[in-house]
Amino acid sequence: MSRANLNKEPHEVAAMFDDVAEKYDLTNDILSLGQTRLWRRAVVNAIKPQPGEKILDLAAGTGTSTQPFYLAGADPVACDFSAGMIEVGKRKFPHLTFVQGDALNLPFEDNTFDAVTISFGLRNVQNTTKALTEMKRVTKPGGRLVICEFSHPTWKPFRTTYLEYLMKALPAIARKVSSNPDAYVYLAESIRDWPNQELLAAMIKDCGWQNVEWLNLTGGIVALHRATK
Ligand SMILES: C[S@@+](CC[C@H](N)C(=O)[O-])C[C@H]1O[C@@H](n2cnc3c(N)ncnc32)[C@H](O)[C@@H]1O
Repeated sequence: MSRANLNKEPHEVAAMFDDVAEKYDLTNDILSLGQTRLWRRAVVNAIKPQPGEKILDLAAGTGTSTQPFYLAGADPVACDFSAGMIEVGKRKFPHLTFVQGDALNLPFEDNTFDAVTISFGLRNVQNTTKALTEMKRVTKPGGRLVICEFSHPTWKPFRTTYLEYLMKALPAIARKVSSNPDAYVYLAESIRDWPNQELLAAMIKDCGWQNVEWLNLTGGIVALHRATK
C-alpha cells in the first residue's frame, strides 16, 4: 500500500523530525501522559532480546527506543533517515550504533538481523508494504518482527473521547511545548488515518510474514504487532 502520507514528501518528513529533534523525547512524554515508557517496556518484552543478538531498531529517531536493547545485552543498530534526530541521539546515547538510512531502501545485507522492530515510525513511512518487505529482507529466517504503532481504541465511547484529544487538545498542548506545533497536527491526522489493528495485521501477512498477531496497549491507543519470517 502506498500512502499519500498527508501530502508530505520524504524530505519534508525528515526535515520535520530534524526540527523537533531537540525536544522530541520530552514532548512525547508530556503528550502521552507518561504512557510512552510503558509502551517501550512492552516492545522489549515482545522482542525478548538475547545477549549478542543483532537487532535493527528502524526509524529509531534519537535512539530512545533502541537503548533498552543495548541494556539487555543485545547488539542493536539504530537506523533513521533524519540527520537531526541522529545528531541528538549520538549526544544522548554515544555508545549506540546509529546508521542513517531509508526504511524503503535499507542499507543492510539480506538476512542480517535476529529481530527487526519499529516504534512509532511505520506510520511516517511513505510506502508501508515496501517498508514491511524491506524489513523482511534484512531479517534472518525465523527472525522476529515487532511493530509498535498508534492504533484504534477498541471501546467505542473511549474512541470518541480519544479522537477529540487527538485532534483538538494535542495540537493545542504542542503549541506550548514543541518547537514545531505543525508536526503535531500532522501526528494527529496521521494517527486518525492509520489502518486499524486487523488491517495492519493483514498487510503484514500479505508481505510474507508469518504468525502475525497483535496486542492492544492502553485500550488500543497503541498496538504491538508481532510476526516471524
Ligand atoms: C515518531 S519518531 C519515532 C522515533 C523512535 N522510534 C521512538 O520510538 O521514539 C519517527 C521517526 O521515523 C523516522 N522516519 C520516517 N520515515 C522514515 C524512513 N522512510 N526511513 C527511516 N526513518 C524514517 C523519522 O525521521 C523519525 O525519527
